[in-house]
Amino acid sequence: MSEEQSITYVAQPGGQLSGQFRVPGDKSISHRSIMLGSLSEGSMTVSGFLQGEDSLATLTAFRAMGVDIIGPDPMGKVIIHGVGMHGLKAPKEPLDLGNSGTSMRLLTGLLSAQGFNLTLTGDHSLSTRPMKRVTDPVIQMGANILSQDKGTAPLSINSDDNTQLSGIDYTLPMASAQVKSCVLLAGLYAQGQTCVTEPAPTRDHTERMLQGFGYKLDIEKLDEQRSKICLQGGGKLTACDIDVPSDISSAAFFMVGASISEGSDITLNHVGINPTRIGIINILRDMGADITLTNEKEVGGEPVADIRIRYAQLKGIHIPEDQVPLAIDEFPAIAIAAACAQGKTILTGAEELRVKESDRIQAMVDGLQILGIDCEGTDDGMIINGGQIGSGTVDSLGDHRIAMSFAMASLRANGTITIQDCANVNTSFPGFIKLSQSSGLNVDIKAMS
Ligand code: S3P
Repeated sequence: MSEEQSITYVAQPGGQLSGQFRVPGDKSISHRSIMLGSLSEGSMTVSGFLQGEDSLATLTAFRAMGVDIIGPDPMGKVIIHGVGMHGLKAPKEPLDLGNSGTSMRLLTGLLSAQGFNLTLTGDHSLSTRPMKRVTDPVIQMGANILSQDKGTAPLSINSDDNTQLSGIDYTLPMASAQVKSCVLLAGLYAQGQTCVTEPAPTRDHTERMLQGFGYKLDIEKLDEQRSKICLQGGGKLTACDIDVPSDISSAAFFMVGASISEGSDITLNHVGINPTRIGIINILRDMGADITLTNEKEVGGEPVADIRIRYAQLKGIHIPEDQVPLAIDEFPAIAIAAACAQGKTILTGAEELRVKESDRIQAMVDGLQILGIDCEGTDDGMIINGGQIGSGTVDSLGDHRIAMSFAMASLRANGTITIQDCANVNTSFPGFIKLSQSSGLNVDIKAMS
């Protein structure tokens, strides 16, 4: 296929991680900073913007809709001159969102009633991922969206000056921040009130940022798990500078790497520790990891901290299901921790992993089995028996998080691990190889064919 597909990582066994460093900016917050900044009145600066392909796809899409966006500069500074809620212009071409599910799902809501027609497209992986979960509620609100036979992208969103969405009271069928955000963003353009009830807490960056931009939300906790978030359509957003913290989902690879390799001691600076994202810390601690948080503070409405991780012998656990949505992107890395732990780790309630950038249950089980680990996939999770990681060639299936997880596995392997199809690491973690090398991982990129 594409030339990009030929990027292969070769990771030599052993080593340990050390040093104090920062991983790139949070992907979810970077996306949302472009979306809300573009719709706001006034100009704003984003610092620490993630210069990964996914968040850049969102940035490029808004430029194509007429928003003046300057940057990012090498430090991740972006200046956005907002056009207001009704200032976007029809893009001349389909908006190509690459590998980015967040771009496609959030834009489906945000662009459903702009008064112009547009098409959202993506790469092969994105074109096979479920989109009915976002098109269904937005169509119920009055949008006109055409998808492919299986409810997948490309999506054609048609609206004109007469399109009027109506508010909805929507209960999410699954714990998904992307679906929640899609409906809330459509709700900004709807007549009356839009409410979303979530079955379990999911990342709340959309809610925090909307409030930071001066939009009023009503958030009601219905019980231990469920919350209802409501807003009135027709309001406006006021530009507000954003300091993007480091992405805890990128930090997760180093947290696992340090936890599994004897002698490791690293500190990851300025990492976002939003309570809806800290499943990785809770789960690793349950497994016996040595994790300390210092310098806790709030930056632009999001909590951040420095995270120190030292090697510790991990033990297998049954991962509490209430932690699953809080660590939804971290299970490839957690599977590596489980493979290095003493005893059995059981993951349940995680069927959403089957519809991420790849089927992450299958991808991790296949790769771990190749490396000699006794494990199996279930409909909604995995069972992994800790053991000795061996050597072999694993396929990341073009999934950034699978590729980075197997790179970390090399720290405990007894032979070389070759990881295929790694180009998409650039969607979320540009500079991963360099940072890994400088912190002690023995990994390199094999020359492209
Ligand atoms: C994201 C939400 C999550 C996560 C994705 C980013 C977001 O997806 O997996 O990487 O920024 O809202 P779901 O909400 O579909 O679980």
